[in-house]
Amino acid sequence: MSYRESAVKKAAEYREDPAPLMLGIESSCDETAAAVVRAGREVLGTAVHTQIPVHRLYGGVVPEIASRSHTERIGSVVRAALENAGVTLDDIDAIAVTYRPGLIGALLVGVSYAKGLAYALEKPLVGVDHITGHIAANYITYPDLEPPFMCIVASGGHSHIVRVDGYTDFTLIGRTRDDAAGEAFDKVARAMGLPYPGGPELEKLAKGGDPEAFRLHTAFNEGEGFDFSFSGIKTAVVNILHNAEQKGEQVNRADLAASFQRAVTDALTKKSVRASREAGLSTLALAGGVSANTALRERLQRECDRYGIRFCRPDMRYCTDNAAMIACQGHYELTAHGPSELSLDPNAASFLQMM
Ligand code: KG4
Ligand code: ZN
Repeated sequence: MSYRESAVKKAAEYREDPAPLMLGIESSCDETAAAVVRAGREVLGTAVHTQIPVHRLYGGVVPEIASRSHTERIGSVVRAALENAGVTLDDIDAIAVTYRPGLIGALLVGVSYAKGLAYALEKPLVGVDHITGHIAANYITYPDLEPPFMCIVASGGHSHIVRVDGYTDFTLIGRTRDDAAGEAFDKVARAMGLPYPGGPELEKLAKGGDPEAFRLHTAFNEGEGFDFSFSGIKTAVVNILHNAEQKGEQVNRADLAASFQRAVTDALTKKSVRASREAGLSTLALAGGVSANTALRERLQRECDRYGIRFCRPDMRYCTDNAAMIACQGHYELTAHGPSELSLDPNAASFLQMM
């Protein structure tokens, strides 16, 4: 039997199995991660190696260093995830891997590793779009969550409002016209002298600040459409810092951080809640690295409560990049569409960017 015939046969068996095991692999940016997930929802074991301390030296992700580190770590990370799950490679029924979007050299490490493993074990391979993986992180936290729902995705590279009509059925409702929300957090944090990644650092600084001190809201984000623009808010903060520096004045950095965070969370919240209401959807989920932001989680919860919308957000450990979310979405992709070809190529863009 050829590899392809065997993969198709085992994918059919996977579909019939009430408790199939998916190994997930993630290497799109600066985390090397693996996880074993049962039946698309139950995480049996995970392992993550973060490269943040290395990239911090340079103020951002250095692609070549990321690829090299993924290459060095991927084997031990996969072994650790299997060990934590208490299973062996023989127990795994299929392999899911992030193949887009991300840094090509970084994606290539995970995709090549997953292909090699799938071929050697004669098990199905399934490619997963990282953004849909972030959305699926919610299925782990809420075992009863099912489409349809609206999702606001805010990560380092993407900010999208996505309508989820089925596990593999997505419609783009709105997106950022320029910077992603996480990217704006990182750039503003950098201008304030905070280390990479700036999102969590800026959130800490903002805790002691007054979010009303500076009004950084823009007409575009207050407007009718569902697209965002974050670069204007970022530039406004940078200008405030530069003007103060030129005049030799002190800016209250905590106030500025809190005001920036308020402007971004306001935009994400208002547009996504309005999108849910206009679509008549009673559930709104949050996803992507910025979903770890407590101010955003609280603001969305309040706004959803106000309109009787159920608000879902991943557990903190599944907000930023991880492989459990990839295994979870991989389960639904394999079930719906069967295995990917071994010719699966990494792609820098999400399919959502093509919509
Ligand atoms: O999803 P993610 O781990 O990687 C991408 O797919 O891009 O998101 C990383 C982004 C970074 O920009 C980081 O600064 C931001 O998420 N982030 C946060 C917080 N934690 C992570 N932004 C704001 N507040 C946080 N607590
Ligand atoms: Zn991510």
